[in-house]
Amino acid sequence: MHIASVGVSKLCFLCSLAFCGLLLLLIPAFQPPSRLGDLPQPRPHARPARAGGGSANTLRRPGAPAVSVHAGETALATWLNGSTTETEVTRSGDQGPGRGTDSRKSPEGGALPGGGKGGGLAGSRSRDPLELKDIFIAVKTTRKYHKSRLELLFQTWVSRAKEQTYIFTDGEDKELRRKAGANIINTNCSAAHTRQALCCKMSVEYDKFIESQKKWFCHMDDDNYVILPSLLRLLASYHHSQDVYLGRPSLDHPIEAAERVKSDGSVSVKFWFATGGAGFCISRGLALKMSPWASLGNFISTAEKIRLPDDCTIGYIIEALLEVALTHTHLFHSHLESLQKLPTDTVLEQVTLSYGGFENRRNVVSIGGGFSLVEDPSRFKTVHCLLYPDTDWCPRVNPRQKN
Ligand SMILES: *[C@@H]1O[C@H](CO)[C@@H](O)[C@H](O)[C@H]1NC(C)=O
Ligand SMILES: *[C@@H]1O[C@H](CO)[C@@H](O)[C@H](O)[C@H]1NC(C)=O
Repeated sequence: MHIASVGVSKLCFLCSLAFCGLLLLLIPAFQPPSRLGDLPQPRPHARPARAGGGSANTLRRPGAPAVSVHAGETALATWLNGSTTETEVTRSGDQGPGRGTDSRKSPEGGALPGGGKGGGLAGSRSRDPLELKDIFIAVKTTRKYHKSRLELLFQTWVSRAKEQTYIFTDGEDKELRRKAGANIINTNCSAAHTRQALCCKMSVEYDKFIESQKKWFCHMDDDNYVILPSLLRLLASYHHSQDVYLGRPSLDHPIEAAERVKSDGSVSVKFWFATGGAGFCISRGLALKMSPWASLGNFISTAEKIRLPDDCTIGYIIEALLEVALTHTHLFHSHLESLQKLPTDTVLEQVTLSYGGFENRRNVVSIGGGFSLVEDPSRFKTVHCLLYPDTDWCPRVNPRQKN
């Protein structure tokens, strides 16, 4: 009797275990239909996602990574099937060092921008829309140009990108600090225009970018006008987890230098580099890989080893050491080119502009507008008013000229 009763309760216990197990197995099967009602409809067009994880365009299954629906029905169906693939996953707000490695495994990460992005990946780019706040813009300057050059930048493009533009200089300036606050970084580097001083600043720029967690690093000089909408458009066609090094080659051939980092200098290496005077951009994924030769002062020792200027050293680390090619673009411009040759109707599509300065005052982009050459010798104000006519100091547009 006693033994039989134990047997029965054991059986009951096993039965209820089996029942619970069955219930657990059935729960996922019941869940999807009940959730269908809450799902936002897939949208054909991207809406800029808000900062952080909780964007309206993102679906979240408990315990699962956020998945965007921008890829349309396929992504939605895949999500419901519970077989989300790596490429369909977005982890909003996660830009840590791990991110780059993860995403690079996906076909999207490996694909070259502008190339084919077929099938279910078509919407992948728009799922992670790039915003201005994702870009770290470093402007390199020196104490003596705070007035003559920086004021113009603050009046024009920097005023439209205040939060993410950082000024790297070499001397304290109370007035400038009052204007730009924490975004003024005194590098404590020498004010001399020497290789060491310039590399010292680049080294600080690099470290501040890594610290910032932003997706793109763009280096600019204090005589560059950055056409922000073009910059955003250009960078949005790539992914920050890809290895991207974008800029204008300063020469029409690669530079050759003795290899003194990986070997003893008896062999030489050839590599392209983007000229610093035109500005250049580096994706976070690539910047992280540069760390052994660029972070925490290593940039200075790398530059010393190969005895080349700051922008060449960047090219050396990326092309020669990491074997990632510079993406040549002619949308970046330095004062070393003939800026007046740039066709007027393409000026606003460029990414950076520059001006001739003292040596060559007339080397400016040819663009007409509200300001004469005397009033606006660099043409930056004219460009700015064409881009942002609502700016309070821009000349009022004559209604008759409007159309
Ligand atoms: C979802 O699962 C069903 C049934 O298992 C299958 O027929 C369908 O193709 C799957 N859809 C996707 C997008 O994987
Ligand atoms: C430069 O020196 C000042 C004063 O010592 C210090 O507060 C600042 O952090 C230094 N800047 C950098 C980039 O190290």
